[in-house]
Amino acid sequence: MSLSIEQKLNQKLEKIFQELELDAKFAFVKPSDRPDLSDFQCNGALALAKTLHKNPREIAGSIAERLKADNDIAAVSVDGPGFININLHNGFIGALADSMAQDERFGCEKSANPSKIVMDFGGPNVAKALHVGHLRSAVVGESIRRIEQFIGNEVVSDVHFGDWGTPMGLIIAEIIRHDGNLDKVETYDVAAISAFYKQANIRCKEDETAKETARQITADLQSGNPEYRKAWKYLRDVSVADVKKIYAELDAHFDLWLGESDAHEACGEVIKLAQEKGLSEVDDGATIIRLPETNKPMPPVILVKSDGGVGYQVTDIATIKMRVEDLHADEIIYVVDKRQTLHFEQVFQVAQMLGIAENIKLTHIGFGTVNGADGKPFKTRDGGVMNLEDLIELSKEKVRQSMPQPGEVEGYGADEIEKLVSQIALGAIKFQDLKNNIGSGYVFELEDFAKFDGKTGPYIQYAIARINSILRKAKAQNLTEGDIVIENDDERSLALKLLQFGNIIFRAHEEKEPSVITDYAYTLAQNFSNFYNTCPIMTAQTAEIAASRLKLARLVRDMLKQLLYLLGIEAPEAMLKA
Ligand code: ARG
Repeated sequence: MSLSIEQKLNQKLEKIFQELELDAKFAFVKPSDRPDLSDFQCNGALALAKTLHKNPREIAGSIAERLKADNDIAAVSVDGPGFININLHNGFIGALADSMAQDERFGCEKSANPSKIVMDFGGPNVAKALHVGHLRSAVVGESIRRIEQFIGNEVVSDVHFGDWGTPMGLIIAEIIRHDGNLDKVETYDVAAISAFYKQANIRCKEDETAKETARQITADLQSGNPEYRKAWKYLRDVSVADVKKIYAELDAHFDLWLGESDAHEACGEVIKLAQEKGLSEVDDGATIIRLPETNKPMPPVILVKSDGGVGYQVTDIATIKMRVEDLHADEIIYVVDKRQTLHFEQVFQVAQMLGIAENIKLTHIGFGTVNGADGKPFKTRDGGVMNLEDLIELSKEKVRQSMPQPGEVEGYGADEIEKLVSQIALGAIKFQDLKNNIGSGYVFELEDFAKFDGKTGPYIQYAIARINSILRKAKAQNLTEGDIVIENDDERSLALKLLQFGNIIFRAHEEKEPSVITDYAYTLAQNFSNFYNTCPIMTAQTAEIAASRLKLARLVRDMLKQLLYLLGIEAPEAMLKA
């Protein structure tokens, strides 16, 4: 498998550094800060000068001398205090782009020592419809899942259903209050169950006894009351079936549909372990673990509540134990609202104290909220929480308005148009979400979010569709691909952009930041657009140039599709506009 362009240059530099007996740790390039002057730069001489107490320009000069002798390199200069600026030969760039075009991974090597990663995202709750707050967990989580898988890691995704806490007791209590018993539970659909849950919440705000009843039912459910368990199982199944539909629409994939309840047994083990290690104490009837104060107050973790029930914290700790023991995870990544940062800090710390996560990497990727124009979490017009399903429908409606009517375009009946509407709307929603840094919130925008000419998902989808059409025309004219030859600046900068692929993927993986990919996909599409404006394919001067440009275009198309895939976005073969 071929190496990325940076890796190739780094290898050349490493050899030179060794020959000059310089520390090879500094033998690496980065894309030039001044692309108008050079392709890559190496700033190693500056770092070396400090430790060697030598003039950086002198060190840079000796490295540059040797680089000049390399046939792949067109020009080298030492600038400023000791930057080495490197320009590559077009032949070298063309050959690398060519080998990239032959490889379905675009020259990106799989990790040599893959790890097993459990990804925890989604996080839906029984009896609660998914709302806008669940969007980012699904979208960001799925993208990171795909990136990690592409890198070569073994990923197991788990939805971690919220099915074991007080909400269960609230719903069961409310149904009993309504019907006198639980006989009719299995006649209720998800809407009815949600309504019970809402009603129970309102009631318990004012009524302490109702709250106490719900709490007791939760504790009894957890300790095995058969009647409650039976009702609970039904409520859970209905909720799972309901959220599965939306996750399928969002194309978020979960290997496991486990929930907090599945950790119940392991909760007992965790509680016992904490006692054995002398870490827990009884405080006001509850069993807790106190955490050492750091630079901020660390509230204790509650293992068993005073009513005997287990809560959110201990189920998460127990789930870590299961993921390590049963799934053999090397790393667990949680994509959860950043307002739960303290929760994960506590949970991770207890896991370490108990020794159940030794050498296991635990990462919480906390995302910011999806906001409305007022900068506050997105709401419906009447101020309620926006359902995810409604949000998707609203977005589809917006896209539908810019589509031709069914039958207006040949081959596009109602079904085809609707499929396209869904691909574009979801592409727009996901891209808008992923182009923002995970940690910051963003304003959900419906006006321009699906425009074909901004930093949007549909812009990339459109770029792909446009190349598809070029490829179809070329095929009709029997034009076939040939070796990539770089003849002018637009071809050159497009090829250099393509050659960044491996580094971009690596960065997105290292930083767990899909926005690295959205930025790259956007600039690559723009680069292609510039290229295509000045570099015609079908009317190129020679057959060789046409064949080379055709291959470049196809490579851009394949890569853009791959990038969208990593963002969880589909690429329609063609796009339509009203
Ligand atoms: N169900 C939780 C909530 O709605 C999110 C679960 C996140 N994952 C976890 N392992 N705690 O807040």
